[in-house]
Amino acid sequence: MTTWPGMQRRSALITGAGGGLGSAIAHRFAADGHPVVCLDIEHAAAERTAAALVETGATATAYGLDITNESAVEAMREFLATVDMLPRLVINAAGILYRGQVDTTDPATFRRVLDVNVTGAYTVTRAFGPDLVASGTGRLINIASIAGMNGHPFTAYATSKGALVNLTRALVLDFWGTGVTVNAICPGAMDTPMLNRSAMASFLRKTPTKRVTAPDEVAGVCAFLASGDAASINGQTVVVDGGATAVFSYTDQESS
Ligand SMILES: NC(=O)c1ccc[n+]([C@@H]2O[C@H](COP(=O)([O-])OP(=O)(O)OC[C@H]3O[C@@H](n4cnc5c(N)ncnc54)[C@H](O)[C@@H]3O)[C@@H](O)[C@H]2O)c1
Repeated sequence: MTTWPGMQRRSALITGAGGGLGSAIAHRFAADGHPVVCLDIEHAAAERTAAALVETGATATAYGLDITNESAVEAMREFLATVDMLPRLVINAAGILYRGQVDTTDPATFRRVLDVNVTGAYTVTRAFGPDLVASGTGRLINIASIAGMNGHPFTAYATSKGALVNLTRALVLDFWGTGVTVNAICPGAMDTPMLNRSAMASFLRKTPTKRVTAPDEVAGVCAFLASGDAASINGQTVVVDGGATAVFSYTDQESS
């Protein structure tokens, strides 16, 4: 746990902040003036992101924990309350990918992927939901994936991201009338450590923009959803994939 001075206003809490997308979101929210809480299972990675934010003059703190550990998440909330850094914004960006289909995914792996990608988001939401409500203009953003929109050959991952999309819709009922909005973002392939770079040619062939999505672009969508301009966008799934899911890709689009 590392803290820096100046923790005074409601924060943006980002899970997976040590990763490619989470760190991009952290940088964007810090640039927009939000104090940022960087959470990651890899404490050193969270610290790297937070330290980089502090170097730019932002207020940031780093926390290393597993989002599936409810008591650790609760303890973190208690700490943030003591330093007046409870969140108005929660971005569930932590996630794991397992590249396997039913026959190559053992039950423990299947459970772990669902545990991190779905139960982890639920656990963080449950812990900080009251703070989002208390803020009056809370925003919850779940980072799903285009793998949650249709069939993908990563069975556990696709299942988990589909569940996260519908968790997003269900949460709209939980936050009814509170001023809190809940939305999901479904990125397509993004150039982060999670990306299988050996499949780059295939991603480019299947994406109308002919490039993978930059994490900064998804961070920009997060910033919009966190803003007052997006106050009526609620329970939606925003796809940021260069048009990959908008077109029929059963055949090779380049040849047609
Ligand atoms: N990279 C892509 O192509 C892509 C596409 C669509 C969606 N996504 C989603 O974007 C999100 C961010 O992924 P990324 O591309 O930045 O990958 P990444 O691997 O760089 O980042 C994921 C981060 O989550 C952290 N994490 C994993 N398990 C955790 C746990 N139990 N508790 C706390 N932190 C944990 C990791 O340590 C890592 O820092 C993920 O939810 C991922 O599924 C990624």
